Amino acid sequence: MKNFRITVLIIAAAMIIPASCKPKEPADLTKAAIIPRPVSVSATGETFKLNAKTAIFVDAGSEEILKTGQYLAEKLNVTTGLAIAVNEAKAEPAKGSILITLSGADQNLGEEGYSLTITKQMVKLSAAKPAGLFRGVQTIRQITLKDTASGKPGQFIIPGGTITDYPEYSYRSMMLDVSRHFFGVEDVKQVIEYLVFYKINTFHLHLSDDQGWRIEIKSWPNLTAHGGSTQVGGGKGGFYTQEQYSDIVKFAADRYITIVPEIDMPGHTNAALSSYPGLNCNGKAPDLYTGTEVGFSSLCTKKEITYKFIDDVVREISALTPGPFFHIGGDESHATKVEDYIPFINRVQDIVGRYGKQVIGWDEIALSTLKPNTVAQCWASEENAAKATAQGAKILMSPAKKAYIDMQYNESTPIGLHWAAYIEVDDCYNWDPATYIPGVAKENIIGVEAPMWAETITRLDDIEFMMFPRIAGIAEIGWTPVSLRNWDEYKFRLAKHEGWFDAMGINFYKSPRVPWEK
Ligand code: ACM
Repeated sequence: MKNFRITVLIIAAAMIIPASCKPKEPADLTKAAIIPRPVSVSATGETFKLNAKTAIFVDAGSEEILKTGQYLAEKLNVTTGLAIAVNEAKAEPAKGSILITLSGADQNLGEEGYSLTITKQMVKLSAAKPAGLFRGVQTIRQITLKDTASGKPGQFIIPGGTITDYPEYSYRSMMLDVSRHFFGVEDVKQVIEYLVFYKINTFHLHLSDDQGWRIEIKSWPNLTAHGGSTQVGGGKGGFYTQEQYSDIVKFAADRYITIVPEIDMPGHTNAALSSYPGLNCNGKAPDLYTGTEVGFSSLCTKKEITYKFIDDVVREISALTPGPFFHIGGDESHATKVEDYIPFINRVQDIVGRYGKQVIGWDEIALSTLKPNTVAQCWASEENAAKATAQGAKILMSPAKKAYIDMQYNESTPIGLHWAAYIEVDDCYNWDPATYIPGVAKENIIGVEAPMWAETITRLDDIEFMMFPRIAGIAEIGWTPVSLRNWDEYKFRLAKHEGWFDAMGINFYKSPRVPWEK
């Protein structure tokens, strides 16, 4: 993570407090700039004062909830400049505290739902499950943002009321391509930390492609020694050791984010084919590839060694991945005959199933016979989506024309591509997964993902510029019922997040379509 950000945050906190001295408007919880917009918010007009006396109390005896309390304290202490402590609640917490508890919550809130009650005396966050508490913590962070909170110096006023909130879709995700250009562990952790703020719960790592193999496989060491040694443009590339990958998985899990590893196959495999000539039908290793073409490589689907290779890779990665999914790619296999592609995908689904994981693949996998729990990730073809749902498969929605956040915002965006579309901030927000593809209904859809391909993305600053502010809109599409979503209302909430982008040092795109306040 960027160390200088700590300094930036302290300076930003110092700027926030004086700016928040004069209440701009009466504290009204319904006007808080919360993204994603909660399912239900009601205001009382009361206010809770967050000040030097405020403490956080958590259920006694739970390490997990204590950690959530500490996470909130750490974030609030940076944004408010206070020194809020975290305690186990032994008795009824004192007036003026924030209580984080699993007790008494409505079980209908589900895995990630939460309820927040803010009175003059107390902020009470409750949930049926620990993940719900962690999501609710993000709401508390957002209602103490500069433009929402107000008060005297050293005192933040949180508007009173009640929020009841839970997600529309269980799968809300971003993908990062670390193959075209490699991004190290600290960059990946920073991206995950950003996703937390918007209640995104899944992070998909595209770990292999023609240009690079990015995860250590102990039984096939040349994949990284050779296949990880370069990237687009010929730079030095890189890869995660298994320990580093596990560190990312843990960092994400501590934030209730599931890592989905992707090994793309049978196409997009030049780095593997260059590392092990036996995986090629002609037995010859191609050169490493540093360009950006697609569709020219294929594992040899007719050789047994290919399935031994896949078995080893899936086994090693699955053992390091606690989440339920393994992504097998399957896209743009133009160098594989369809009569070879279909049995290949069928066989790979069996391998993944043997290691206890559920398959996700790009929408082309619908050409094969999908296992009952396989998920097709729709990016390009409505026909494939229809084929997948006809087989009873669930769909993950990532339509390239709306959700590909490596697409340029417009013709003058200095990085990114536009083969799918130019995607302005409102274009990225203004679509509904449940009506986007005729015949694919809400009950067929597990959620939404914003993929970030990295042909032109080379630094964390680039990732930030393409993510922000579009990722906030994708998060809202995944969380908030469509009946509560409206660009003309959303854009004003989004505008209020500029202070957070600045405090975090985020290099964001200042779209002219958003009424920024600065
Ligand atoms: C893809 O964009 N090739 C899934």
